[in-house]
Amino acid sequence: MRTLATPAVGATSAAARVGPGGASPARVDPARVEPARVDGALLELDKIAVTYRSRGRPPVQAVIGATLSLAPGEIVGLVGESGCGKSTLGRAALGLVALSGGTVRYEGRDVPALGWRARPDWLRSLQLVFQDPYASLNPRRRVGRQIADAIALGTGCRRPDGDSGAEVVAALERVGLTSHVATRFPHEFSGGQCQRIAIARVLASEPRCIVADEPISSLDVSAQAQVANLLAGVAAESGLGLLFVSHDLSVVRKIADRTVVMYLGRVVEEGPTAQLWSAPAHPYTRSLIAAVPEPGVTGLLPAEIAGDVPDPARPPPGCRFHPRCPLAVERCRVDEPPETARPGGAAPSGEPARSGRVRCWRSEEVVELGKVGGASRASSPDGLPDGLAGATQ
Ligand SMILES: Nc1ncnc2c1ncn2[C@@H]1O[C@H](COP(=O)(O)OP(=O)(O)OP(=O)(O)O)[C@@H](O)[C@H]1O
Ligand code: SF4
Ligand SMILES: [Mg+2]
Repeated sequence: MRTLATPAVGATSAAARVGPGGASPARVDPARVEPARVDGALLELDKIAVTYRSRGRPPVQAVIGATLSLAPGEIVGLVGESGCGKSTLGRAALGLVALSGGTVRYEGRDVPALGWRARPDWLRSLQLVFQDPYASLNPRRRVGRQIADAIALGTGCRRPDGDSGAEVVAALERVGLTSHVATRFPHEFSGGQCQRIAIARVLASEPRCIVADEPISSLDVSAQAQVANLLAGVAAESGLGLLFVSHDLSVVRKIADRTVVMYLGRVVEEGPTAQLWSAPAHPYTRSLIAAVPEPGVTGLLPAEIAGDVPDPARPPPGCRFHPRCPLAVERCRVDEPPETARPGGAAPSGEPARSGRVRCWRSEEVVELGKVGGASRASSPDGLPDGLAGATQ
């Protein structure tokens, strides 16, 4: 379930060298900071709110009351259109943006906001893969040195055997890069290569939790599969928790245990990926799924999502999705739906009760009408199955 079909490129020897799934050889160091708590949730975001304020402009509520948790070894996909707040929420998880509400806990401890003080040692095992890889790499240090620094971070203090030594080379090969990369500077590489270097550096520090913000969007298709498989493999083998932010629902479907859907700063649906995909309970989730291109289907373009994302500084009243929702009724234009449990019942695959949350006044109908309409992919121009589109008033 968690493997993408596209064959890996370049890193075949790395897989052999560092073991299946890419886990690097175990290193033991007494100075290493151990987790305060390894049972239960690894990362807990509770009612997170982030508001950006700039002079002369209305405040932008980038994230409003978002709750999300991540267990060891779990992959959670975070999806939504551009500007919905995915990166802001990801950065909030690491204390990189000021919160206007809510709390973030990692391994049972409150994550402090980034300040002038050094980051606490216990937070080092929580790492971020930035959406822009150039922003995370030091342009003045050779790649090998930056990987060696990360290895030293992971081991507590021990430096690896040089900036082009076996451990550094293994870390690079793990993401499909060769040893020649070690002696060069970040500006000598393309965006996709830099992203691989950034991922190699994060993995070299042996994190227990990664927030990966669009880690594969700058990679070509085969490299996307390789890196997604690598991250999923590390999560499965070493118990790494991975918050995987992506526009690409087809990749999220393959690797994520649970999927969180955001729209205009709100989490609008969350649940086990298979159940969310087979029986989405929010019209926006359904539209996102319908917009995924389907290989092998000829003569049928994926359905666009109608309308544009509203200005987050001036969100619509009521349900934030109502101006674009084919199911909107009067109540939706006035009252914002609360977060409720996703509708119950068996999923088409025969799985028992579904779990998760949804924000929609008509979620029961969305699921029911979706069954009438068949598969959750679009068969009508508004991104909803025919049966569901017919319910529009
Ligand atoms: N520093 C900032 N100051 C003001 N507004 C900001 C700032 N950073 C982000 N925003 C706004 O907050 C909203 C959420 O931005 P964010 O980058 O989190 O979205 P995103 O879902 O990651 O988008 P994308 O998919 O394009 O990366 C957007 O409307 C964006 O314009
Ligand atoms: S609450 Fe209403 S407008 Fe919002 S998604 Fe549900 S049906 Fe559509
Ligand atoms: Mg982003």
